[in-house]
Amino acid sequence: MNALADLAERPTDWAGPASVSSKAEAGDESEAIVIEGLSKKFGGVYAVQNVSLHCRVGEVVGLIGPNGAGKTTLMNLISGVLTPDSGTVHLSGKQLSGGSPESCARGGIARTFQNIRLFKRLTVRQNIEVAQVTSKNNRDGRKVHDIDEILSLLDLHSMAELKAGTLPYGHQRRVEIARALALSPHVVLLDEPAAGMNEQESKVLIGSVQAIRDRFGCGVIVIDHDLRFIMEVSERIYVMHLGEVIVSGLPHDVRHDERVIEVYLGRKASK
Ligand SMILES: Nc1ncnc2c1ncn2[C@@H]1O[C@H](COP(=O)(O)OP(=O)(O)OP(=O)(O)O)[C@@H](O)[C@H]1O
Ligand SMILES: [Mg+2]
Repeated sequence: MNALADLAERPTDWAGPASVSSKAEAGDESEAIVIEGLSKKFGGVYAVQNVSLHCRVGEVVGLIGPNGAGKTTLMNLISGVLTPDSGTVHLSGKQLSGGSPESCARGGIARTFQNIRLFKRLTVRQNIEVAQVTSKNNRDGRKVHDIDEILSLLDLHSMAELKAGTLPYGHQRRVEIARALALSPHVVLLDEPAAGMNEQESKVLIGSVQAIRDRFGCGVIVIDHDLRFIMEVSERIYVMHLGEVIVSGLPHDVRHDERVIEVYLGRKASK
């Protein structure tokens, strides 16, 4: 895998993110989400160990790391699929108390899954409607987004009446994101949204993710192995390895960081 080396060699005219926030204060409502000291062990081995990170309202944060680094487990802890052994999650200033997926969704966390989970026999529109209807009484007063607006934001209008299961993989991934948006979330967690997409599709996806941030004012945390995609879409990046965050910072700094290059390439970076 030499994608990182390739990225490190790219010309530095790439316009990086404007600013980085200082360490978040739990309880600060400008923070969409603040995670402090989250840990989870499976069979005595840490899958996630003492992870702290934050994502502001209207910010896209990337989460990368090699296979088995603990990225999906971290998303499962944040979204209530798993209960942490220790640590806290604050959402818009309020602590989520080791909740279920339903209570996390009610609080304003929506996610997509690494393995797509759509109603394959329902149309694209119906998939989004189901999410919206089932969450209707559960959104704590948050605004209901218009389904047509969601469809056009994710470039799904032309396939709205097609059955989700008949769509190519990359399109199904976009339907998953649309369904997450139907929950009117404060924070959207995307687990490998660009997987299975070609270069053109993942370029378009960058625009869609940034539109989610800008139009819906969400914080977005996105995992992906497509480093070109993640470096371009994210304002800040956290790098996980063996359950821990080993590096965090601006994409430009992360992609030149020796520890990151070592983790990805299995050798010391050449000076
Ligand atoms: N339910 C589980 N039971 C036992 N071990 C698990 C469970 N879920 C994850 N693990 C282990 O936890 C570690 C982290 O896995 P995780 O799926 O979070 O990694 P990841 O960073 O998402 O990897 P990938 O990039 O391959 O998706 C791995 O060693 C994995 O085998
Ligand atoms: Mg994963």
